[in-house]
Amino acid sequence: MLYIGADLGTSSIKLLLMDREGNVKKIVSREYPLMFPKSGWSEQNPADWWEQTISGLWELTEGVDKKSIGGISFGGQMHGLVLLDKNDEVIRPAILWNDGRSEAEAEYLNHKIGRDKLTDFTGNIAFAGFTAPKILWVKKHEPENFRKIAKILLPKDYIAYKLSGVYSTDYSDASGTLFLDVKNRCWSQEMLEICGISTEMLPMLYESYEPVGRILPEVAKMLGFSEKCVIAAGAGDNAAAAVGTGTVGMDTEGFGKCNLSLGTSGTIFITNDRFRVDTYNALHSFAHADGAHHLMGCILSAASCNKWWMEKILGSMDFDGEQEKIKNLGDNHVYFLPYLMGERSPHNDPYAKGAFIGMTMDSTRTDMVQAVLEGVAFALRDCLEAAKSIGISIGQATICGGGAKSQLWKRIIANVFDMKIYTVKIEEGPSYGAAILAAVACHEYDSIEDAVRNIVRRVSYVQPDRELVSKYNKRYQTFRQIYPALRDIWQSEKEE
Ligand code: XUL
Repeated sequence: MLYIGADLGTSSIKLLLMDREGNVKKIVSREYPLMFPKSGWSEQNPADWWEQTISGLWELTEGVDKKSIGGISFGGQMHGLVLLDKNDEVIRPAILWNDGRSEAEAEYLNHKIGRDKLTDFTGNIAFAGFTAPKILWVKKHEPENFRKIAKILLPKDYIAYKLSGVYSTDYSDASGTLFLDVKNRCWSQEMLEICGISTEMLPMLYESYEPVGRILPEVAKMLGFSEKCVIAAGAGDNAAAAVGTGTVGMDTEGFGKCNLSLGTSGTIFITNDRFRVDTYNALHSFAHADGAHHLMGCILSAASCNKWWMEKILGSMDFDGEQEKIKNLGDNHVYFLPYLMGERSPHNDPYAKGAFIGMTMDSTRTDMVQAVLEGVAFALRDCLEAAKSIGISIGQATICGGGAKSQLWKRIIANVFDMKIYTVKIEEGPSYGAAILAAVACHEYDSIEDAVRNIVRRVSYVQPDRELVSKYNKRYQTFRQIYPALRDIWQSEKEE
């Protein structure tokens, strides 16, 4: 049998075809538009996701025995708000994970309802990107849309619905709605009441590796697939990426395993065998796709900073060529703050902005290219420090995502983190993890851990270098002083 993993990302959907041994047969990627209707807003049309999914599935399965597709599962951009009316029509464009418009609603939840109560109800506090503040925003600013709501779905769950006709979600993705009581794995009635919605509006909850149904006969016919093809719940993209890099269960000494993702967002994902809350609420406490838990720090702009700087500002597509000129790791006096969409972890500040600091007359284009890569690594280190502050120790990590294709960026991260950074054989992350979820849903393996043990292989690593670690430690101490020094300026801009 063959399995399909679909990673519904922010810029494109990536579809991956895998056999039962984990060999990748084909990968297809389809882009769709990302809209920024106002500064700090970020939207997409679910119809674009669906159109590209179908045409991508066509291309992916061309030339293979379509009847041998056993199952499809998903990894998906988290937190996005998809609203359906009573006829299952999309009410408005989806409001995405990196959209900061609901800052006032997040503030209301954190301060009027209170962080302690929110943590008690859900295991987490509110961030503007989470789904619950977005619902409150629609309720206040678009009451006519709010009245039409019959179903609330997350992005990948909309695609699962179009394929299977079932309204489903999984615990990992549901964790990021702020409607889920993560500890007790059920919808929080308190949160639903606060947001003025009902359980009927939310999808059924599943483990990521559970089948939610089979492909609809009309979709099976259109694609040429068997009607037996299983649709499995899938996971939020970070949990799916963790599966794809083998970041499941605990290590041999009982410590959490760690995966770093350098995609549009950047995340540090740490497995946990039990529910645990970050007392400072800098890290999210979410369910994992293997049935256990994880803690996660998320920076809103990671590889997207490099893309923005290279393509939009420098007008260059020669990422490798620009990076080859970087010779002085650790010695750059230029700093970059990567807050191009505000920041989530650990600052929780939608008004934070990007900044270059520390240029002098001798600063070069290359110094600035380097500063962008380093700034993202430092921002991720902020999340690592948040984990350390609650007693978590991490000795090594795997890495995935578009940014991880750069050997230099991996080297910078290994030295900023003072950690061995491993690369796995199949670096696709969420789409590979999603295909593994589909294989487990079809009983090819007994569990996610069993599948990962048999399929995922580490192939190389980058080792930190003592001298560079010390240089980067110094630079990180300077980096972490820059945001507090600038925060009030951005806050005063907000008040204008
Ligand atoms: C995680 C998060 C992002 C998106 C990106 O909390 O918001 O990683 O899932 O797709």
